[in-house]
Amino acid sequence: MSFLNDPNITKADIIDKSIRYWNPSKTQEWIDRGMSIVIGKREGYYFWDMDGRKFLNIHINGGTYNLGHRNPEVIKALVDATEELDVGNHHFPGITKALLAEKLANLCPEGLDYVCYSTCGGEAVDVAIKSARYATKRKKVISIKGCYHGHTGLSVSTGDAVFKDPFLCQGEPGCFVQVPLNDLDAMEAELKKEDAACVIIESLLATYGFPIPDKGYLAGVKKLCEKYGTLYIADEVQTGLMRTGKMWCFEHEGFVPDMIVTAKGFGGGIYPISATIMNRKAGSWLFDIGRMHGSTCGGSELGCAVAMKVLDISTRPETVALIKKNTARLTEGITALKEKYDGFFRGFTQRGVIMGLDFDCKDASVSVTKPLFDNGVWAHNSRLRPNILQLKLGLLCDDAFLDELFEKMDKGLAQAVKMR
Ligand SMILES: Cc1ncc(COP(=O)(O)O)c(C=O)c1O
Repeated sequence: MSFLNDPNITKADIIDKSIRYWNPSKTQEWIDRGMSIVIGKREGYYFWDMDGRKFLNIHINGGTYNLGHRNPEVIKALVDATEELDVGNHHFPGITKALLAEKLANLCPEGLDYVCYSTCGGEAVDVAIKSARYATKRKKVISIKGCYHGHTGLSVSTGDAVFKDPFLCQGEPGCFVQVPLNDLDAMEAELKKEDAACVIIESLLATYGFPIPDKGYLAGVKKLCEKYGTLYIADEVQTGLMRTGKMWCFEHEGFVPDMIVTAKGFGGGIYPISATIMNRKAGSWLFDIGRMHGSTCGGSELGCAVAMKVLDISTRPETVALIKKNTARLTEGITALKEKYDGFFRGFTQRGVIMGLDFDCKDASVSVTKPLFDNGVWAHNSRLRPNILQLKLGLLCDDAFLDELFEKMDKGLAQAVKMR
């Protein structure tokens, strides 16, 4: 049976059913914005709308398609695993669970040795917060203004009011506090109350447009955490897995967090799996009350087989060399576009193949995303700093993709400037 080639399945029909049974307002919003898509064929860093239009994917769902859509090696790892495994049994150890945990620990700085699996980023952040609370017997969670750590129970409470208020997920008063990025004094003022279980920070704030933290800021926060008995959680959901040229983005900053959260690309875009990696203190509940947290499908043995392959591909010397090359190509290509559209295109931040492009507009989702979309490029702006467009390249993009990308971005930006 084919979903994509069934002549009885039409785009119009799927849109109707999506409005009727799935998510009416989300479906309608894309129609209203003239960007209605039903994802059809997908391959590498391209996807096609059901109506046949082809798109270059430079959003890649925040890193989910780091290795491309339907990476053949990742698919093979899953198919092979289904020959003999299934989700497994969350009560018992399993072969791929243990092997993946060992592999992951070996790719983390010394001391980060304990792995708890979940199904998605939000759930893995929830585990990190629960772990910090168990280890410190404190409740408060400090996050950064403009952060985003997920939509699940605890993770959403760390985030912006726009995400948590509609669902009444503010948490108990004083339990979730935010401080501005790069303000060590504000961070210390919260930490010195000695009631914070953890500080959680994206190593680059994705939903705030990937600002590069001031030199020494993140390491400074970690030092303050140590001083006041608080644990540091590095959210590497968007920035980990080699996307910044290192396995984890915090490695650019010369410090070691107490916990790392990885998700999205960890499952290769093929199987949902995420992980919270902990040091001995953060993982103390694993030693004391290991059965008091669980996730039936988090740590599926199939997902673990997939994630092992993802780690293999992501850390190959050829992949590392390609990331380096593409980082330089991006700098060059985007600088040329910035010069050409100077004034409108004001500047950019970059770490590896992750970029935030700063436009002189109120809302890039209208002024930039749409013209790029009309030229076959799918990018997304930053929800909490809407004038910034996120450019998130996959790890394995080739020269042909980049050539096509720069050409189409050029056309899209020319159109955007005309529309101003
Ligand atoms: C930095 C960061 N953390 C956590 C999450 C939550 O991940 P998920 O959607 O898999 O729950 C996201 C999702 O976009 C994210 O960008």
